[in-house]
Amino acid sequence: QGAPDPAITELQPWRNQLGDGVDARPYGVPSKYASEAVRRDVPWLTADPISSVNFTPLHELDGIITPNGLCFERHHGGVADVDPAEYRLMINGLVDKEIVFTLEDLMRYPRENHVYFLECAANSGMEWAGAQLNGCQFTHGMIHNVMYTGIPLRLLLEEAGVQAGGKWLLAEGADASAMTRSIPMEKALDDCLVAFKMNGEALRPEQGYPVRLVVPGWEGNMWIKWLRRLEVGDEPWHHREETSKYTDLLANGQARRFTWEMDAKSVITSPSPQAPITHGKGWTVVTGIAWSGRGTIPRVDVTLDGGKNWHQARMSGPSFNKSVHRFYYEFEWDGSPLLLQSRAHDSTGYVQPTKNELRAIRGENSIYHNNGIQTWYVNENGEAENVEIS
Ligand code: MTE
Ligand code: CO
Repeated sequence: QGAPDPAITELQPWRNQLGDGVDARPYGVPSKYASEAVRRDVPWLTADPISSVNFTPLHELDGIITPNGLCFERHHGGVADVDPAEYRLMINGLVDKEIVFTLEDLMRYPRENHVYFLECAANSGMEWAGAQLNGCQFTHGMIHNVMYTGIPLRLLLEEAGVQAGGKWLLAEGADASAMTRSIPMEKALDDCLVAFKMNGEALRPEQGYPVRLVVPGWEGNMWIKWLRRLEVGDEPWHHREETSKYTDLLANGQARRFTWEMDAKSVITSPSPQAPITHGKGWTVVTGIAWSGRGTIPRVDVTLDGGKNWHQARMSGPSFNKSVHRFYYEFEWDGSPLLLQSRAHDSTGYVQPTKNELRAIRGENSIYHNNGIQTWYVNENGEAENVEIS
């Protein structure tokens, strides 16, 4: 039928000549045709790249794991270049025994593997006052989902012996910003990890090599990278990152503080502004991710008409606690415009709110903890745009 397809009838170079041998790339890199899957920043967001952020290309990814080279970066003082031979982790304060661990010391503790998402509290922060950035990479890309190998923080604290008054933990980074956050002891003893591997290999420098704190389900700012010190105390320290920053100023002038848990959220990653529908009418795959800091995601709903009709999406892939989940919704597109949204339900029964529902309660002062439902308008050509509907 029709003209012969040269992709079948012609002999392409990769069929009539040998390719590279093994070891051409001792550390593998993506295909040159997959060059769009890169982190990107929004230049006007920050004054310079040292204290800045770039974004995970969610629209290029599938499944639930974020490849190490694509995990968004958020640094307050640049990437610390820590020499593992000079790496030290100190535990001090209200403990029976102050301890300093080398990296070699840490490697002799029992380790565990867990998949967790890290979401910056400022993810979607630019969208509080209305639709702004055109692409899920920019609206939702301050998230990554990684399998960590690490030591339960509880084991190290038990070794030091937390004293009776030890109700809080200060975690401090070794970078030039000396990032410091107060963490309640209950959380520290629950599921936090002192992690040294991500997706099987050493942490990337950008992600805190050689050691970072993993604080499952809680805002990314607390996941101290280049972890150098843990101090046990009897009350929080009220550092900059828990007073001036990472607090949510309400309309009445009061601020919500210590809003650590990340509420359930989801986003359609394709179609989306950076991933338009290019095949025209017919069978169309809608996909996206959903997550909750309080558990798993048993259900996601998708609407094609701005919320008039909701359809239950198909979850696919492992459902880990405090991890990203993947959903799909396949349908026959008739070529008419769409208002695409997804809505996550988490295992506590919580349902992701609309942006207006959030604003009614939290006002528009804050940039943090925006987990409202995202809308993509898709036109007849399949092009998508970030919009809001009332
Ligand atoms: N830890 C240190 N030491 N320095 C930092 O600047 N940034 C925090 C947190 N831990 C930061 C840090 C913030 S705000 C976030 S969102 C996460 O690290 C980002 O982690 P990532 O760079 O692996 O994406
Ligand atoms: Co952050």
